Amino acid sequence: MSSQGEDTEGQGPETALPSSSCTDCDTTGGDVITVTVGATVPTGFEHTAAEEVKEKIGVDARISKDRGRIYFPITTDKLFQVHLLRSVDNLFVVVQEYEHYQFSESKEETLIDLQQLASKLPWTNALEVWKLNSTLKKKKGHRRGGNGSKGKPNSEAHDATAVDNEQQELPQASPTAEGQSDVEPTAQTDTCSQDVEEATPEAKVIKFRVTCSRAGDKHSFSSNEAARDFGGAVQEFFEWKADMTKFDIEVLLNIHNNEVVIGIALTEESLHRRNISHFGPTTLRSTLCYGMLRLCKPQASDIILDPMCGTGAIPLEGAIEFHNSFYIAGDNNDMAVNRTVNNICHIQKRRADKGSASGLPIDTVQWDLCNLPIRTSSVDIIITDMPFGKRMGSRKKNWDLYPSCLREMARVSRPGSGKAVLLTQDKKCFAKAISRMGGLWRKLHTVWVNVGGLHAGVYLLKRTGALFGQTPEDVYESRGPVERQEKDDTELS
Ligand SMILES: C[S@@+](CC[C@H](N)C(=O)[O-])C[C@H]1O[C@@H](n2cnc3c(N)ncnc32)[C@H](O)[C@@H]1O
Repeated sequence: MSSQGEDTEGQGPETALPSSSCTDCDTTGGDVITVTVGATVPTGFEHTAAEEVKEKIGVDARISKDRGRIYFPITTDKLFQVHLLRSVDNLFVVVQEYEHYQFSESKEETLIDLQQLASKLPWTNALEVWKLNSTLKKKKGHRRGGNGSKGKPNSEAHDATAVDNEQQELPQASPTAEGQSDVEPTAQTDTCSQDVEEATPEAKVIKFRVTCSRAGDKHSFSSNEAARDFGGAVQEFFEWKADMTKFDIEVLLNIHNNEVVIGIALTEESLHRRNISHFGPTTLRSTLCYGMLRLCKPQASDIILDPMCGTGAIPLEGAIEFHNSFYIAGDNNDMAVNRTVNNICHIQKRRADKGSASGLPIDTVQWDLCNLPIRTSSVDIIITDMPFGKRMGSRKKNWDLYPSCLREMARVSRPGSGKAVLLTQDKKCFAKAISRMGGLWRKLHTVWVNVGGLHAGVYLLKRTGALFGQTPEDVYESRGPVERQEKDDTELS
């Protein structure tokens, strides 16, 4: 990692401008270069994401101080695989990183420094990767109506870009991750609405925007000012055209205290939108669902329950990614059940359209979680996102709901091996409910996550061997005389 003032050779615009005839380039036939890729991931699941990178790409990822980001090296022949990762939201290629950037005292000086930085950065490799990324997308024969056309939930545009395991579409350029603090793209005039892909080579002008995300309280400038001044210098250096909505390239300026990373986005919209076409009020990101699923390590033929499935985000991600298990998605709300059914049908249809006959191992039911139509001790894993009592349900109702649902979950789980992964922000109520379960559940691990700005816990619980419905006295009585004697002896000693 280099620091400000290091001799980083500036590259002329002519070397950086994407070639107009790159559609015939072999995506891996050119020179293989090594670059650093950055990924935004659900906060709390950085280690899970690093684990996935190691498993699928075979490299070690570095977890940034800036929570919710990881960095890893790739050779350009692995670029396609990077888009298949399930735990990452947005991807970007790093132009330059400064671990200890020395910000000047005054705002004016800092902004001038940022302007001067633009022409000193080593842009070439990152732009090559951006170009290759666009080429991969074109090779897929996937065209959308220009960059920056973010699909809305439930819209056809969104549906057309949703991806699953079977065919990953490569996006174009990207917005930054959600949930970042103080993120502002530069807005400059949009006088040309011509689609770059339709223009003749000589008429092509690269459109770009700079998005700055800033966190830290010791900065004399806002993210908007940094994006504006750095963006102005980038525009001048490359002779690109600024366009906030229909951009070809999104340059990212990430500032976290005195760590500065400049990158180029490789995803147009967050990869967490891949499965859901029918959103609900509290739809969970598929990337977070993936992290939760990994926590409980599904095994072949496991029966996995999401008893409060909402739109079905968790079981759907499971049925796609851990498809050797069987998923049951239930909810007491008929609208939620309908949304889940629609989301499942949507993915099934997409698969069928692509010629795949395989169905998803998932079923949907309307039920009350406190009274499940399921046999005692028959479920391997329960994984669910409980009502926080903020946007869904109420804090008051949680005091009744949480103990009832933990008890019913304990009833259907296999004693001794059953697991539960439960997400909630109502930590106090959850802790109290667990303490009242008479030792049916044991807490193994907690991952702290950020869900829509709320600090929530993902609790990994293990079902103990205690049989459901037994009081501690029952458990004692059910032991044989020898076992009882041993216990009495232990207690006496
Ligand atoms: C936080 S939401 C789940 C959101 C879901 N993970 C998604 O991605 O859409 C909680 C869900 O619990 C459901 N719920 C609340 N009480 C329930 C009960 N007693 N039985 C079944 N479902 C219940 C609500 O209808 C709601 O859909």
